[in-house]
Amino acid sequence: MSTPHNQAQRGEIAKTVLMPGDPLRAKFLAENYLEDVKQFNTVRNMLGYTGTYKGKKVSIMGSGMGQPSIGIYSYELFHYYGVEAIIRIGSCGALQENVHLRDIIIAQGACTDGNFASQYELPGTFSAISSFDLLEKAVALAKQKKVSYHVGNIIASDVFYHADKDSDKKWASMGCLGVEMESYALFATAAYFKKKALTLLTVSDSLVTKEETTALEREKTFTAMMEIALEIA
Ligand code: HPA
Repeated sequence: MSTPHNQAQRGEIAKTVLMPGDPLRAKFLAENYLEDVKQFNTVRNMLGYTGTYKGKKVSIMGSGMGQPSIGIYSYELFHYYGVEAIIRIGSCGALQENVHLRDIIIAQGACTDGNFASQYELPGTFSAISSFDLLEKAVALAKQKKVSYHVGNIIASDVFYHADKDSDKKWASMGCLGVEMESYALFATAAYFKKKALTLLTVSDSLVTKEETTALEREKTFTAMMEIALEIA
């Protein structure tokens, strides 16, 4: 069995999949954190790997950037490969003054400026939320690791280079902690299949202070986030 975007055979993918946006990040993480690693996908270079972490079977696969991309991969993982939980591990821009570079955001829910949920033809607006089970576990681990973290809403935008230069401020005024480009579609797809999803983000830049992290700094916080994701996988 395979799909147009994934050449994995059934059984080659674990029940929990960690998804960074960048497929090369997936490769790096699999090679450095998992044992007995086997690559299951190279279609469109959206690399995917399965291995074990402390004896537990875990998969790591790139999601690509944006809601259409994670929408495709998460749909196939949930629907065709029997995946039960997807944990996105990504980066975001901070929208609040108290959210600093390298902090971790654990997304309780995601807003969107896109139209992903229109396909469900609901008589209103779908509120995309993460799995409380995964959220609770992630928060407990973040506390235990004494990392600086925030729990709350985020905005999953379909646009990176906005014509409206104030769009971030408008989402910030509604309490969104950070901006990224995938989680609304991920949470909606999980809800559609009655499966679990969570998003963990490290703050790579601030839209408030305009600061950016260096590649090395990003690597370090990414490690804490990755360990949280692997523990709850
Ligand atoms: N905008 C959207 N996505 C992002 C950003 C941002 O500023 N930073 C990291 N991912």
